[in-house]
Amino acid sequence: MQRYLDGNLDPAAIVASTAITQTDIRAPLKIDARRIWNKEYGGEVSIPSSLRSNPSHALLELCKHFKLPQGKALDLGCGNGRNSFLLANQGMDVTAIDFSEVALGLLTSSSNYLTSHGSITTLNHDIEENLPFEDSHFDLILDSYCLCHFTEVRIYKKILNECARVLKKTGLLVQIHLDNLDKYYLERVERTTEFGHVSYDPANNLKKLHYSVTSYLRYFAENFELQTILPIEFVDNVRGKNYVRSIFVSVIKKKT
Ligand SMILES: C[S@@+](CC[C@H](N)C(=O)[O-])C[C@H]1O[C@@H](n2cnc3c(N)ncnc32)[C@H](O)[C@@H]1O
Repeated sequence: MQRYLDGNLDPAAIVASTAITQTDIRAPLKIDARRIWNKEYGGEVSIPSSLRSNPSHALLELCKHFKLPQGKALDLGCGNGRNSFLLANQGMDVTAIDFSEVALGLLTSSSNYLTSHGSITTLNHDIEENLPFEDSHFDLILDSYCLCHFTEVRIYKKILNECARVLKKTGLLVQIHLDNLDKYYLERVERTTEFGHVSYDPANNLKKLHYSVTSYLRYFAENFELQTILPIEFVDNVRGKNYVRSIFVSVIKKKT
């Protein structure tokens, strides 16, 4: 297995080193978002899945019904890499990208990292910037609960366009969405929008974009061809309370 280690990072040390300094020239909001995720992966967990080693439930369900391609995969906002390992174990060469050093440190220090069959390359990158890959590079891009954090539609669409650019003609974009019926986030609606709502969670200061399948296809995926869509409901315990979670997985392809 090929490895590009960022080093076995100590999460606590990284959280300490991400404090805002006077020489940091990034916009304060972006520093905050990165710091929130570093805290999340450093142990102040507010999202149950953050430290789970099992792949996303939705991705596993999709794999029962849909054959993912082989070749090069990009795991957008990979977190601790739980889905990168699944893709690598299916033989793919995975680029796992995230702007949280702490999350990437968890990935590279995981025992799964040592035993994956395929290759995993980690990349510390802010995906709001252009993706640092040539055109038509990937066979698969996975967005497991990452793009939903881009609540400004213009930015969300810019990232989707970048995904289209770096996907091969036959490449697939798999997205896992928290839809507008998800009960946990319905209790945390900050504002409604023309396509659904934006939630705000005081537990971690994160906002998320929620929409229905119909709105997704109409407002976001209009430049893609739908390959399959899978709605999933399950009960999840979030900080001691059970919620009916409502998500859907979409597989889309560039329009030719
Ligand atoms: C809810 S987590 C999902 C993690 C992983 N995909 C999973 O399913 O377990 C969202 C991830 O997106 C990453 N992320 C958020 N904004 C980002 C950005 N602008 N650039 C790169 N990664 C980002 C966070 O650091 C975090 O790891």
